[in-house]
Amino acid sequence: MESLKTTTIPQLEAPAATARPTAPPASAAVGLATILLVDSVDINRQLIKGILKFGPYRILEARQPNEAFQLLEQADVDLIIADLVMPEISNDMQGGLEFCRRVKANRRTRLVPILILTSVQGNNNVIASLESGADEFLIKPLQPAVFRTRIRTMLRSKRTLDSLEEAETIIFAMAETVEQRDKETGHHCQRLAALSVALGTALGLPEDDLLALYRGGYLHDIGKIAIPDSILFKRGVLNEEEWLVMRSHTLKGEAICRRMRSLAPVLPIIRNHHEKWDGSGYPDGLAGEQIPLLARILQLADIYDALTSRRSYKSAFSADEAVAMLQKEAAMNWRDPELVSVFVEMVRQPNFVAHSAALFAPDPAHSDLSSREAAELQTMRESLARMSREVLK
Ligand SMILES: [Fe+2]
Repeated sequence: MESLKTTTIPQLEAPAATARPTAPPASAAVGLATILLVDSVDINRQLIKGILKFGPYRILEARQPNEAFQLLEQADVDLIIADLVMPEISNDMQGGLEFCRRVKANRRTRLVPILILTSVQGNNNVIASLESGADEFLIKPLQPAVFRTRIRTMLRSKRTLDSLEEAETIIFAMAETVEQRDKETGHHCQRLAALSVALGTALGLPEDDLLALYRGGYLHDIGKIAIPDSILFKRGVLNEEEWLVMRSHTLKGEAICRRMRSLAPVLPIIRNHHEKWDGSGYPDGLAGEQIPLLARILQLADIYDALTSRRSYKSAFSADEAVAMLQKEAAMNWRDPELVSVFVEMVRQPNFVAHSAALFAPDPAHSDLSSREAAELQTMRESLARMSREVLK
């Protein structure tokens, strides 16, 4: 049960249409959930504030979607309550749907739950709202008790998500520490994530697998955090005992990430990214298709990126040289030959390497690409989609 001891609505007047809305300082609302109301009708916002006035909430108000986006930039919002009707976005009575899509497309706000309100009856509205990213839907007139309960439930889920996100953030920070220990690898994880997702896309894998590949790019070597520098950075050949320790990074990495249920799809990548097609790899000696597909994908990306990057002990190989080496490893029965063929076809696309890191930016419209680069990127995305259809035939 949430505390009702504080009346917390700040004296925040809805801003004039031309003024930039500002969120009151978060320091004045420590421990309070921040709710953003988006509704062009003053009386509607007053009504909602009245229903929520005894809750532990800091309430922000926006008359228009653009004001809401400005407030979302400034404040850490825990919940959005928005009216389905937003004529500033669309005249078809469903601007709220587009609003939801934009909130969910932004990496910063995608996890903020949205409650859509409307006075228009009809299942179609409910379905369309949920499909556009809204988390809940209520029809007016509001029943205050139901409304308050719904708000509390949504905020409870948001708090759970926040704590999961925090735990994930810590694990990713650990992975970054591993990467930074090795000054030579540069942005290896970032490139690896992009290359792996590109190959996954070319294979037509579902979005969950692509997300696992993306995360695997960062987390696959997290177990190296437990490997002593004397072994990790040893110049020269490792002895048998040192090899055993080095190889254990796969199992140690899996053990670190196993505690987070959301990382379950990434575990096979972490554990099995050093297996070989002929069964001579580690840690399990898996062969052929016993090796999880996502681990095989990441492995190819890992090898290709290592070959095409400069290290203190070698210069960077060209894309053609790296491809030739991958094909040689496939011929030696170390790598999945079909996967190598798709990978080679993919990296040979014009400008693929130059743009691979930007390929999966969530919103290319807001990236720093020039219009020419954006057009090339679009062509490449279409080409990958075509390839995916070919592979799936
Ligand atoms: Fe590794």
